[in-house]
Amino acid sequence: MKILGIESSCDETAISILEFDNKYNFKVLANVISSQIDIHKEFGGVVPEIASRHHIKNIGGVLDKALLDSNTKLEEVCAIAVTVGPGLVGALLVGVSYAKALAYALDIPLVPVHHIAGHIAANYITHEELKPPFISLVVSGGHSHLIKVEDYTKFKVLAKTRDDAVGEAFDKVARVVGLGYPGGPKVSEMARKGEAKYKLPTTKFEDSLDFSFSGIKTAVINLANKEKENLNKENLCCTFEENVVNVLVDHAVTCCKQNNIKKLALAGGVSANTRLREELQIQGNKNNLEVYIPELKYTTDNATMIAVAGALKYLDGKFTKDLSINAKASMNIEEE
Ligand SMILES: Nc1ncnc2c1ncn2[C@@H]1O[C@H](COP(=O)(O)OP(=O)(O)OP(=O)(O)O)[C@@H](O)[C@H]1O
Ligand SMILES: [Mg+2]
Repeated sequence: MKILGIESSCDETAISILEFDNKYNFKVLANVISSQIDIHKEFGGVVPEIASRHHIKNIGGVLDKALLDSNTKLEEVCAIAVTVGPGLVGALLVGVSYAKALAYALDIPLVPVHHIAGHIAANYITHEELKPPFISLVVSGGHSHLIKVEDYTKFKVLAKTRDDAVGEAFDKVARVVGLGYPGGPKVSEMARKGEAKYKLPTTKFEDSLDFSFSGIKTAVINLANKEKENLNKENLCCTFEENVVNVLVDHAVTCCKQNNIKKLALAGGVSANTRLREELQIQGNKNNLEVYIPELKYTTDNATMIAVAGALKYLDGKFTKDLSINAKASMNIEEE
């Protein structure tokens, strides 16, 4: 079977075509991404209205390329999987409307996909041996969650950030030290040239594995204001990255222990971070955990992860021909 995946929740217009079977074997036939990063860079972040307009402009060409790359005719597709939320509602609407039109014209079902279920599903592309239950550390521009993946389409949120998401904190630090958008990769690159010599706070809660990154973010801003031209940007980035990585890994390992689960899968845009990938593997080995890390190209937003999450729901009978499904800015993954 072939499923078509559509992703447009932020600033990436993406379409993928994926072959799958009921044994959870997946083969990526096309993975097309049209990124708007260069457009939003100028504004220091994503401008929602501009993102929506570019999705409209780009989506037709992205579909044509996906069909061409995969040598697929639309009539061969059994369902359309689409991100319905969470994300920028105007941006989501473009993908959702396009998916509805395709499903209606082809008379095939729609599979509404939660964006974070997609990020988690990126692991199945690279690791076909991975099977639930497992714990997923989801770290992205909008999320910092510890999720128990109870089954392929059943999730339980065990912990989350009480304020900023970790990707958001990386982007803010990048702005403070003048590195531009998107900040994560740039902070990480600069951190590699420095040492963790500054002192930054770590926030922990009693009896909870929740995260909080607003304290460290404010401390970085205050430090930059105080040090001014004496600020060692490399050392600041390195201190920030080490602090954040240690907290994420520590909570993830503890979460596995508390739930007596030996499998830990990383997910989301921040999982592109080299130090996080390294440290999770090191601590995972020390604690006898099987650590799963998605292939780099499937860490940030793409439609292949949406197609995989969609295929899993399709196999579970969770699809619809009801064209009243809509885009949602916020959505609970447990109610999926
Ligand atoms: N190497 C890296 N190190 C740290 N952060 C990174 C790295 N690469 C990307 N990021 C961060 O990942 C985030 C983008 O991830 P992603 O595309 O999944 O976010 P999003 O889709 O905007 O949010 P969400 O998935 O929560 O809806 C950005 O905040 C970016 O700075
Ligand atoms: Mg994302």
